[in-house]
Amino acid sequence: MSNSSSNAMWGGRFAAGPDAIMEAINASIGFDKRLARQDIDGSLAHAAMLAQAGIITDSDAAAIKEGLLTVLSEIEGGTFAFSTALEDIHMNVEARLKEVIGDPAGRLHTGRSRNDQVATDFRLWVRDQADAAMEGLSALMRALVAQAEAGATWVMPGFTHLQTAQPVTWGHHMLAYVEMFARDRARMHDARARMNECPLGAAALAGTSFPIDREATARALGFDRPMANSLDAVSDRDFALEFLSSATICAMHLSRFAEELVIWSSAQFRFVTLSDRFSTGSSIMPQKKNPDAAELIRAKIGRILGANVALLTVMKGLPLAYSKDMQEDKEQVFDAADNLMLALAAMTGMVSDMTANRESLEAAAASGFSTATDLADWLVRTLDMPFREAHHVTGALVKLAEDAGCDLPDLTLDQMQGVHGAITADVFDVLGVHNSVASRMSYGGTAPAQVRAQVARWKERLE
Ligand code: ARG
Repeated sequence: MSNSSSNAMWGGRFAAGPDAIMEAINASIGFDKRLARQDIDGSLAHAAMLAQAGIITDSDAAAIKEGLLTVLSEIEGGTFAFSTALEDIHMNVEARLKEVIGDPAGRLHTGRSRNDQVATDFRLWVRDQADAAMEGLSALMRALVAQAEAGATWVMPGFTHLQTAQPVTWGHHMLAYVEMFARDRARMHDARARMNECPLGAAALAGTSFPIDREATARALGFDRPMANSLDAVSDRDFALEFLSSATICAMHLSRFAEELVIWSSAQFRFVTLSDRFSTGSSIMPQKKNPDAAELIRAKIGRILGANVALLTVMKGLPLAYSKDMQEDKEQVFDAADNLMLALAAMTGMVSDMTANRESLEAAAASGFSTATDLADWLVRTLDMPFREAHHVTGALVKLAEDAGCDLPDLTLDQMQGVHGAITADVFDVLGVHNSVASRMSYGGTAPAQVRAQVARWKERLE
């Protein structure tokens, strides 16, 4: 099974080419072709710097630049013939450059290695993804804020243990997710700031004897500065791990919200109606409208967390500096990034299109003795009862209502006074759900006035 032609890039030392299985396990071109643009950007910056520093001639640099742009247009135009024998994107591009411009192509790799090259390409790619994630998160937050603004006064049940707890407002619930996605965006922002250092010029691992200008290439590629240690520069994949861990937390938030949408859109809850655009039907049950997008979003955490764990596992125990293990970094990150962006876009679409069913929300908010805490608070406030006693009296009233098969506001004053003689008719004011939410004016509370204030704050921040 051996291939008789030796490698064009390092043929000097090799008498025979690789076995077909070796080629199959070694080649990354099948996936790292996604780094083509970043690879060419890196090479353009490197070649310009080499000429600036007098390491190659201006005419060679000009030929290299023109050739690289030709190669890029071939790749983007879909006419480029990728070769597995050439292993990866770096050697595919360089080999084609040689065909296009001839000898000057051989000078491009002066003072660099594929180790710093791939580290640079991948950083540029992940940096773009961090930007895309931040944009996707902003769009989702805007959709949530619009829902919150429309429904600042709509009441719904708030749950603990998925049991009715206290009434809350729809707007408040939407804004809870805005807070989560804002933290996700901030994590992406932090990760981006830390990853924005340039490995290019670290060469194979030790730096180079050529008088390269690392500040210049870093600047040309939009990095804040060159990485300070060449060994670290070629071995570090923290930038990808930070992207993945931020993505994992974001996917967890998406999954929680997706789960709520699945529950809320069921016939038993009817809290929301998802649009036809983000639902599917059943091939057998004509009545069905399934929340497939929400279910898929709920599941995306699986592969995104999987990628995070996979890359951490690849990196653990690797000695400095580069090892080929690190080629296993890309597919996982590509897949996680693709799926994060898709999940964010789908969630944004679903949120923008969904309709809250105000009547169902309000009916559910009023059931399940949701204002029992308001009743206990009233006893404390009005009758100066210790809270523990108020809790006990309220419990007895809830039991009474439960036995009578009604809700708290349906009890008569007589019935209430049977439990505690000092209760007055004023108590009925606090048993209504709208009064209940309006009273929760503490900072961060569910009162419509608080929700409106937060909506205003977010609208300003998201402009
Ligand atoms: N395809 C390789 C990777 O993704 C590029 C770096 C190869 N470097 C090396 N010394 N073999 O990691």
